[in-house]
Amino acid sequence: MSSLRIFSLSIALPLSAIAPLAAAAVNVMHWWVSPGEQASIQVIQQYQAERGIDWVTTTRKGSGTSNYMDAVRQRVASGAPPMAAQAIGYDIQDWAMQGKLANLDAIAADQEWEEVIPAEIQALSRYRGHWVAVPINAHATNRLWLNQQLLSHLELSAPDTWPDLLQMLDKARAAGVIALAIGNEPWEYTLLFENVAAGTGGAEFYRRVFLDLTPTAADDPLLLQSFERMRQLRSYMDAGRHNRSWDEATDLVRNGQALMQAQGTWVNGEFRAHGLIPEQDYACFRFPDTQGLFLFNSDQYMLFKDYPTTLEIREAFASSLMDVELQRQLNIATGAAPARVDVPSATFDLCGQQAIKDLRASNMRRTVMGSVAMGNANPGQVKEAIYTIVSSHLNGQLSDAEAVAQLKAAITSFSPSSSGISR
Ligand code: GAL
Repeated sequence: MSSLRIFSLSIALPLSAIAPLAAAAVNVMHWWVSPGEQASIQVIQQYQAERGIDWVTTTRKGSGTSNYMDAVRQRVASGAPPMAAQAIGYDIQDWAMQGKLANLDAIAADQEWEEVIPAEIQALSRYRGHWVAVPINAHATNRLWLNQQLLSHLELSAPDTWPDLLQMLDKARAAGVIALAIGNEPWEYTLLFENVAAGTGGAEFYRRVFLDLTPTAADDPLLLQSFERMRQLRSYMDAGRHNRSWDEATDLVRNGQALMQAQGTWVNGEFRAHGLIPEQDYACFRFPDTQGLFLFNSDQYMLFKDYPTTLEIREAFASSLMDVELQRQLNIATGAAPARVDVPSATFDLCGQQAIKDLRASNMRRTVMGSVAMGNANPGQVKEAIYTIVSSHLNGQLSDAEAVAQLKAAITSFSPSSSGISR
């Protein structure tokens, strides 16, 4: 299986060359509700509407968490599944295992998906070798987002290392702004943790512990250091974090009330939706010490096989999501890299171009690795256990050593062989 071909033969057809289907209304579920996310969903809706597919959407906030998935489960259980639903990571495997998803092999072969999507993303889009989901982007989670005015005012530049990061945070705190903005969701804390852990232990450590789920005794000191660092970071957060979500934390950076936020590239889409421009209004840096890694979260659409529609509509829906042109337009709005590595990058903003460059470089080095927080690294039960441990630790209910012991127990109690994924 090769995913290294950089240039593809598939070319987006001009609109005039596409025969629209007889207008079809299809029901789609997703969680894109923040301003940046809404701008993104509109790109897909419009693109598909031009091809005769009208979306009737059902939304539920939740960033791929169980809050959202419960709503999808209810729909499926009631016998009225949506035609398609946004999903990420191992959730797709769960649905496939239950036999609920449409097989997309024919359209994937036709459009040569295997050639243009990084292998690690493909592993989540396929179940026992068969395509069951369409990846539409590759968000990076190892990113810092900073207010440019504060950055200049405090005379700060990109932090390369952990001490650099602490120095920046100290300066921000001394200046009376929130140093590190964050919201109160367990996945947000875990996203910060995966960055700290990847920066502390490096690529092979991250792979062994969080992807292969085979930590060794030699990993203990690195895990301990990761939790120590999380404790350090807690001192730079404000009490308001208990009452806000990720996009409200982004607003604090945007308004200059906070210096930075550690978040996925969807923050780029959020800033864009508010008219902000990289380098002028904000900066995007790699999380310190994670150079060379692309921790990814790929938004995907899975199609339910029991939804009453035609093969033609299903295939038109899936194939247009994979169009080079759709992925270009869409990901300028989302702030992510496209899921395909062959989309021209020239029209993306600087942070988007950086994401594309990083994805391609990491793809060649096999350091595209799933985000723990967003469920792209390991099965839901492991992810949920990590959420609980990381949140309890951050909220002062677990010591560093207790957190390490619990984390290792949660990871090793799960047998990787029970998942359908082959790495
Ligand atoms: C993620 C999703 C991103 C973004 C984020 C915040 O799960 O993949 O596209 O929407 O949630 O809601």
